[in-house]
Amino acid sequence: MVYSKTIACMFTMLLLAPAIMATDPDPLQDFCVADLDDNAVRVNGYPCVPQLEAGDDFLFSSKLARGGNTSTPNGSAVTRLDVTEFPGENTQGISMNRVDFAPGGTNPPHIHPRATEIGLVVKGELLVGIIGSNESGNRLYSRVVRAGENFLIPRGLMHFQFNTGDTVVTMFVSFNSQNPGIVFVPLTLFGSDPPIPTPVLTKALRVDTGVVELLKSRFAGGSFQAS
Ligand SMILES: *[C@@H]1O[C@H](CO)[C@@H](O)[C@H](O)[C@H]1NC(C)=O
Ligand SMILES: *[C@@H]1O[C@H](CO)[C@@H](O)[C@H](O)[C@H]1NC(C)=O
Ligand SMILES: *[C@@H]1O[C@H](CO)[C@@H](O)[C@H](O)[C@H]1NC(C)=O
Repeated sequence: MVYSKTIACMFTMLLLAPAIMATDPDPLQDFCVADLDDNAVRVNGYPCVPQLEAGDDFLFSSKLARGGNTSTPNGSAVTRLDVTEFPGENTQGISMNRVDFAPGGTNPPHIHPRATEIGLVVKGELLVGIIGSNESGNRLYSRVVRAGENFLIPRGLMHFQFNTGDTVVTMFVSFNSQNPGIVFVPLTLFGSDPPIPTPVLTKALRVDTGVVELLKSRFAGGSFQAS
């Protein structure tokens, strides 16, 4: 009897619990074109430009029509179309990026803390790797994705892309967040500000001080340094 009461009680709590949000919150108006003014007060996202002053440019963008210069240390160029680049996305729970890769170029292991990602390769062949959490036994899921094919990155999982071919790769990705966020794994480990104490990293990575210092020197100043 006590047992069934406990179950009934748990069931009621579940029913009363607020809805679980798997994406950004729903908008409360048709449009809320972001006012990117730094001094504006933010609650969750950006305040809105008055609708009558917003025009109609906020519904269109040509920023992803061209890729960036891939002559970078990573051999890739990310062209962002998040809310700061496309203010009409504010409150809509959606955004995109374009990434171009030179042969051998990579988008280093990283995590989007606030979004699931779906990608489409439109040119070339791209190795896409997704590393499951401990729950999957840290499994590496990977495949070469070709033009016209898609891939999916579950929210919060570490992933990377690498151009294994000898031609340029172009991919477009969409996120279910206006601001997916990014945690670059190499940069957060070795280029944080201030740095993670070296003894933490020697113990965690099972290497000696010299190895950690070398890696830190590559990411000094918060960005990747060419060797
Ligand atoms: C791309 O970047 C490299 C290195 O910064 C530079 O030498 C090159 O001129 C750039 N190419 C274009 C098309 O802007
Ligand atoms: C290259 O990768 C590093 C992380 O390994 C990252 O910090 C940096 O922003 C990337 N550079 C570009 C231009 O994407
Ligand atoms: C990680 O997974 C292994 C194998 O399933 C399990 O034994 C271990 O307890 C897990 N560790 C954590 C911290 O969840």
